[in-house]
Amino acid sequence: MSVNQYIKPITAVVNNKEHISIGGCDLVELAQKYGTPLYVIDEATLRGICRDYQEAFKNYKNIKMMYASKALCTSAVVRILDEEGFGFDTVSSGEIYTVYKSCVDMSKVLFNGNNKTRKELELALDLNVGRFSVDNFYEAELLNTIAKEKGVNADILLRLTPGIECHTHEYIQTGQIDSKFGFDLTQVDKITEIIIKEYKNLNLKGVHAHIGSQIFELKSFGDEVEILVKEISRINQKYGLNLDEMNIGGGLGVKYTENDCPPNVKDLADVITEAMHKYSVNIPKIYLEPGRSIISTSGVTLYTVGSSKEVNLDGKIKRYVAVDGGMADNPRPSMYQAQYSAEIANKPDSLVKNDLFQKVTIAGRYCESGDILINEIELPHLEAGDILCVYNTGAYNYSMASNYNRVEKPAMVLVNSSQSDMIVNRESLDDLISHDNIPSRLRK
Ligand code: LLP
Repeated sequence: MSVNQYIKPITAVVNNKEHISIGGCDLVELAQKYGTPLYVIDEATLRGICRDYQEAFKNYKNIKMMYASKALCTSAVVRILDEEGFGFDTVSSGEIYTVYKSCVDMSKVLFNGNNKTRKELELALDLNVGRFSVDNFYEAELLNTIAKEKGVNADILLRLTPGIECHTHEYIQTGQIDSKFGFDLTQVDKITEIIIKEYKNLNLKGVHAHIGSQIFELKSFGDEVEILVKEISRINQKYGLNLDEMNIGGGLGVKYTENDCPPNVKDLADVITEAMHKYSVNIPKIYLEPGRSIISTSGVTLYTVGSSKEVNLDGKIKRYVAVDGGMADNPRPSMYQAQYSAEIANKPDSLVKNDLFQKVTIAGRYCESGDILINEIELPHLEAGDILCVYNTGAYNYSMASNYNRVEKPAMVLVNSSQSDMIVNRESLDDLISHDNIPSRLRK
């Protein structure tokens, strides 16, 4: 099994205090020490999936793993990925700056996005970002202009929409024709010709696509490779070019609940490399951009249980239990109807008799009825003060977190070999007002 096929971090065990521990750290003690809500990242799990990827693709010589930092971009996480030999797919100056300040060789960074601003493109050129994935005609012209002003050349890939519809939530599909991203295949000749004839400060190196996220069907990746390989050789033949780089994007799924069966990274590697050898004469350099499958399983979120209420629905009792976080630290259930698994850190499932489990709905603390973290989950009886551990929250939780209801964002700790280190400080009330200004006429 590869790490993305587990619900829990690989170090999760029940310790001799009958608590769940991760990375050798007792989750109840972490909650006491750092407060809740608390994001916890298990370093062994994170390094484990990185090695799964490297191992799975080891026979394909010319490959570069780029972590899609949108999934979770903090300086310590970047340092770990850098140590594991990953480059970085970035989509904003904030991500580029985080990676830069974390001492990454910027030639290993790719800048991606459908509406990069002039300021962001300037920063990326100034910091020598290795590749730009050019998304549209407007950006190609803008990037060429800025590169010319600076007297530099930008190495680019063309972001293509290969026309693949994969089975995932419609908001996170990206490769289908009706998408805001990239050039569709009918526009490739036009952009290639403009680049060759006019945009002397752009070096076209290859193509890039990303077909979606939380994908379980490997066939979609094989189809994508086929389309990209054929497109590269068509462009090369038609224009006498020598494009030899192909970025396949990310998208491999993870296991949020027992119903999810994401594929093994090894099987993903087999599908990609087989399609590559089947359709390609000159085997190109491949970039992969996994985000979720790299960071999701290593992360859990701890919450403290507070109030609860029961409602009588035509004789059926529904129990709501509220925790001290919710849609601001994890917007995925309310945005995508995402489902999660959870356990009570101080009453692990394996130590509680089956007949003591109850169906509960875990509600958040935000002022919105839709702020439900988990709808109807079977858990041992929950009481105020219990520590709830929600699994698989490493990806797209902190990175999509907000200050809704003016609530401070949680802290994040990294656990490894019984040691815990705070890698993101908890926001303070003063942090919350630190960007506010009161015009002098309103001051008191
Ligand atoms: N490359 C590109 C160009 C992307 O747009 C994405 C994700 C990735 C790579 C990484 O995909 P991954 O391996 O993480 O599936 N907020 C949503 C997910 C949005 C993904 C956007 N693009 C969620 O919480 O499910």
